[in-house]
Order: sequence, then structure tokens, then C-alpha cells
Amino acid sequence: MELYYDNKKSQMQILKNANSINYDINIDNKSLLFKGDNFDVLSFLLKKYKNKIDLVYIDPPFNTENDFYVSKTRANSISANKNSVLAYSDKMSKEEYLEFLRERLVIIKELLSEKGSLYLHIDDKIGQYVKVIMDEIFGEDNFKNDITRIKSNPKNFYRRAYGNEKDRILFYSKNSQKNIWKDLRIPLEDSEIKEKFTKIDDKGRRYTTIPLHAPGETKNGITGKPWRNIPVPEGRHWRTDPAEFDKLDKQGDIEWSLNGNPRIKKYADEHKGKRIQDIWKFKDPQKPIYPTEKNMEMLKRIILQSSDENSIVLDCFAGSGTTLECANKLGRKWIGVDNSDVAIDKIKNRQIGEYQFIDITKVNKINTKQKIHSYEVKIGNMVNVQ
Ligand SMILES: C[S@@+](CC[C@H](N)C(=O)[O-])C[C@H]1O[C@@H](n2cnc3c(N)ncnc32)[C@H](O)[C@@H]1O
Repeated sequence: MELYYDNKKSQMQILKNANSINYDINIDNKSLLFKGDNFDVLSFLLKKYKNKIDLVYIDPPFNTENDFYVSKTRANSISANKNSVLAYSDKMSKEEYLEFLRERLVIIKELLSEKGSLYLHIDDKIGQYVKVIMDEIFGEDNFKNDITRIKSNPKNFYRRAYGNEKDRILFYSKNSQKNIWKDLRIPLEDSEIKEKFTKIDDKGRRYTTIPLHAPGETKNGITGKPWRNIPVPEGRHWRTDPAEFDKLDKQGDIEWSLNGNPRIKKYADEHKGKRIQDIWKFKDPQKPIYPTEKNMEMLKRIILQSSDENSIVLDCFAGSGTTLECANKLGRKWIGVDNSDVAIDKIKNRQIGEYQFIDITKVNKINTKQKIHSYEVKIGNMVNVQ
């Protein structure tokens, strides 16, 4: 499945363009903050960080046809007043916008490591087109989730439609079998504990019980054999090797009913927490320092879930630097890019740790024809040596 629009380049052409861009920059071993167009910066990063970035979160403009200002009173005002300065402009045609984003996504895929993930923040209007181009670039098999993010309180103004309180985060991996996944959990609420774990033992511990068996029959395996002369019910199998049940029973972790039916005790204080689902409530700050500034706790979840402590986290539409500050707080190295002076100012004022700042607009480009004699552009099974 492919999306067609005018002036769509081949992925090979995009990578060829990226490979022809290089800069004479010495990189420290610190986090990196770039001012400049992210196509240029990503192209430069390709020379040093190909397959090295474990996590990318991006929150690009959403093709809203608006200008975004920072005013002295409110950061997210989109109407200019005499005290406001333009933070960034979001006024491309739909086709221009999709190609702009696609060019960057093609390079991001090259930068991602085998265990890497990309989270792309977008809205409902343009999001479905973006999903199609992401499927093209990353492959449908690498699509993980379309996360619904509750971003605001319910809207109360009248329009001939439902209020909009959500946007989306499209989550892809470079390799769906290898992406870093920490299996974060959410602790149960007190009310959920009371509802789920209704029994209390003589030590005051809340617990519930579950059957020893689960759906699905085992033909010849150990989990299909009787335990203490109790046969497995039809169409079911023991949850574990029945020898484990002996251990549990000895520990007092099996509860026997009056008519001799055994069930396993599950304690509330041993519950690992709920698995995280694909609807997230992380409202944006009430008093943002930058238009469309995102929620720090949301970034915390993403970074903790999909990166290791030694991972590099990249945000090439960094805005006020929410991702960069969060990565720093969680002990990760980060790379941030923005082409807005206002954004760079805001980023520099955040707690982002030690970093090297590079204004790429002021660095000389290298003539790559002299430097790079041959490189490979690989897309699917095609290999083109230039
Ligand atoms: C929606 S804002 C990001 C907000 C950010 N997530 C935060 O929490 O503050 C998008 C940012 O992308 C930047 N941007 C847009 N086009 C860019 C480009 N070609 N290169 C670098 N940055 C760009 C804009 O200046 C803007 O700051």
C-alpha cells in the first residue's frame, strides 16, 4: 500500500541527498544540541550515528496552517500581539508537509539501532496519511501501537461535532522482535485492590484465588497428567508442572474448598501492576513555556519503556526541550534539534545537563564528493552503489 502525491521522491533519492550533506564538526562525547534544519542535522548524524540511536520521540508541526507565537503572558497563543515573537510557522500544503516529514523519517530509520523505537506525535487530521507513509518506510510489521493521548479537558464550546480531547502517538520499531521493552506496569489503585483481592488471610494480607488450570488441552505433556489423583478438567491444562503445586501447598499458598477443590492464592502485595494499554491520559501543561509543549510524565513513560540507561534519545523537533530534559533526568544521553531561535533559548534554560551546542547554520559544509567516494543506499532488496 502506498500514498501517492506530487513530487514524492524515492527513498533512494532522499538518502542520496542526505549522504551528499556533511559538515566539518568535531563531536564531543556529550549530549548534543543543534540549531538548524533537521534535514541537514540528521544528514550529518548519519555519518556518525547510523544504527546507533535507540529511541526517537518527535512532535513535529501537525500541518495546522497556523503560526505559533510565544508571548510574554501566554506561550501557546497563536494570535500575535505586540509582545509576542514567532516561535515557528506551520503553513505547508499537505503534500509539501508529508514529503517534508517523510524525508526526515527515511533518515531516522537509518539512525535507529536494531533495538530502536520511534514515537511520532501527531493529530487526527493528518495522522492517517502519516501512518501510511510510516508503514511504507518502517514496514507494517514494525507498527506497534496507535496510542490515543488524552491531551486536554473536555471542550465545551459549540460546534457541529464532538469535542476533541485527544491526539495520537504512532509507535514503530526498527525490528519488531528486538525493540527495547521494559514492560513498565502501573500500580493498582486502592479501589482496584479492594475489588480484585476480596479475601484477607490471618496475617492481614489481601488475596484472591485462581484455578490451578487454564484453557487449552495438553495432549501428552506433564501439564495434562492428574495431580494427586485429580484429573485436569476437559479442554484445560495445569498452569504449571504439578510438582510446583506441591510446593505451593506446603507454603500454604493453595486454598482448599470444603468440597476439596484447590485454588492458588494470589496476594495483592505481590501484584506486579497493570500492563499499560494504548489510551494514555497526559494533559499538556496549563502554563506552557512554549506552544504545543508536551507533558513531561508522558516522555518519562516513553523513555523508561523503550530505552536503556546507555541509550541515546533523539528529538529532532525539540521545541522547548521536554524530551531532552526528561532524558537528562533519567540519565540518558540525548540529541536535540530545532531551527527556531525561540526554541533553542527555551531549551538552554532547562535542566538538560552537560551538552555541546552546534549552530549548524554557521558551520561550513564539506564537499562530500571529495570525502565520500562510495556509499551504499539500501532499500528492501535493492542495493545501489554510488
Ligand atoms: C510541536 S513543536 C515541539 C514541541 C515540543 N515537543 C515541546 O514539548 O516543547 C515542533 C517544533 O519543531 C520545530 N521545527 C519545525 N520544522 C523544523 C525543521 N525543519 N528543523 C528543525 N526544527 C523544526 C519547530 O521550531 C518547533 O519548535
